[in-house]
Amino acid sequence: MQQLKIIGGQALSGEVAISGAKNAVLPMLAATLLIEGDTCLYNVARLRDVHTFLQVLNEMGARAEFSDENQVCVNAKTITNPVAPYDLVKTMRASVLVLGPLLARFGYAKVSLPGGCAIGARPVDQHIKGLKAMGADIAIVEGYIEAKASKLKGAHIVMDTVTVTGTENLMMAAVLAEGTTILDNAAREPEVSDLAHMLNQMGAKISGIDTSTLTIEGVPSLHGGEYSVLPDRIETGTHLLAAAATRGEITVRNTRSDLLEVVLEKLERAGCAIKRGENFIYLDARHKPLQAISVRTAPFPAFPTDMQAQFMAFNTLAQGSATIVETIFENRFMHVPELARMGADISVDGQIATIRGVSKLSGARVMATDLRASAGLVIAALAAEGESIIDRIYHLDRGYDAMEVKLKALGAQIERLQEIS
Ligand code: EPZ
Repeated sequence: MQQLKIIGGQALSGEVAISGAKNAVLPMLAATLLIEGDTCLYNVARLRDVHTFLQVLNEMGARAEFSDENQVCVNAKTITNPVAPYDLVKTMRASVLVLGPLLARFGYAKVSLPGGCAIGARPVDQHIKGLKAMGADIAIVEGYIEAKASKLKGAHIVMDTVTVTGTENLMMAAVLAEGTTILDNAAREPEVSDLAHMLNQMGAKISGIDTSTLTIEGVPSLHGGEYSVLPDRIETGTHLLAAAATRGEITVRNTRSDLLEVVLEKLERAGCAIKRGENFIYLDARHKPLQAISVRTAPFPAFPTDMQAQFMAFNTLAQGSATIVETIFENRFMHVPELARMGADISVDGQIATIRGVSKLSGARVMATDLRASAGLVIAALAAEGESIIDRIYHLDRGYDAMEVKLKALGAQIERLQEIS
């Protein structure tokens, strides 16, 4: 397995270009199953999860590939195998997103239950409840969701909990259903909205975008086309926090400040100077002592759970103390013991972590446990004194396109190692 070796203590400085959003391109790749023609997506990051999704689509009989550095084209005219197998789904839960499109277009889907992951049980009951409301027959057979429907019908569905992929799965299913579907208590994450815009570009009729009530008027079919994926707000926030934690300055380009306004406001309250441009964000953390800031994760537009570990890493070296409340996932504090190995002062009581700022962190050998926890460890290692080795960085590669290359260009002493021992 590969590792990252980081010599911390350098203030980051310079510019970084943000890639397309992982959590927007994955549902869009699923959405290509709704389309009989060619669909090309631009601004696609070269992520492990994207490669896995292309494999899922190709194994179904579609033709899906990178046709250029950051461009993916898919032709799903002939799907011979509407199945998402366990061995792929277990490595990428987002594969469950093929359920709605396959059911809507072919009337049949067999998708492995994703199973839990490090951060939580990750149930899909809302996905199943909504599809049943649209008339699907769904059985759980040997760990697989087997779904059948001659023709999905529009329905009024009130989601019991705000779920990003649940909203996306049902929105995609509704696009080709007979009649109109109303999704109430829908997720409003920018990636949900970007998917809706992409579907409308292909002939769908979705309204209420950016709100918690989506109305989808079913259409007979979608046509192919092109769409450019929105910038990754989590990659944006990760780089901003790396610059803040190392007391540096950074210009983050090809991004939008409206995607993560709540994170920017927290950083300003901490003492960072921030400038919001048309398609860039500038942060300067060199001139003021930085304060630890409390955070409570919740669905968009509140503080994103995918930024929780990164913000905790920042808080470990800020002045004072702060709490982080994780309300979305039941086990998303696995970075805490790893940060403690670097000298962080953090105590956890259920879903509440209390961080007391310390004057310094010391480099150590630590282990990545999940995608965003590994990003938090990178930030802490960049700010720590001395050398850190981060194991199992395949987690990082799922959601960040060559992170060490981008950080090295900002002055970080970081390199990828092939683990020897
Ligand atoms: C999406 O996961 C993201 N993944 C996650 O990003 C992100 O953390 C999460 O949304 C929350 O923002 C993708 O978009 C591919 P949820 P998702 O369904 O859709 C409960 C990353 O690091 N729930 O919004 O799986 C669930 O247990 C990843 O990029 C049900 O109870 O998350 C959780 O407590 C990690 N029943 C809450 O809802 C359901 O049917 C939110 O989960 C579905 C979800």
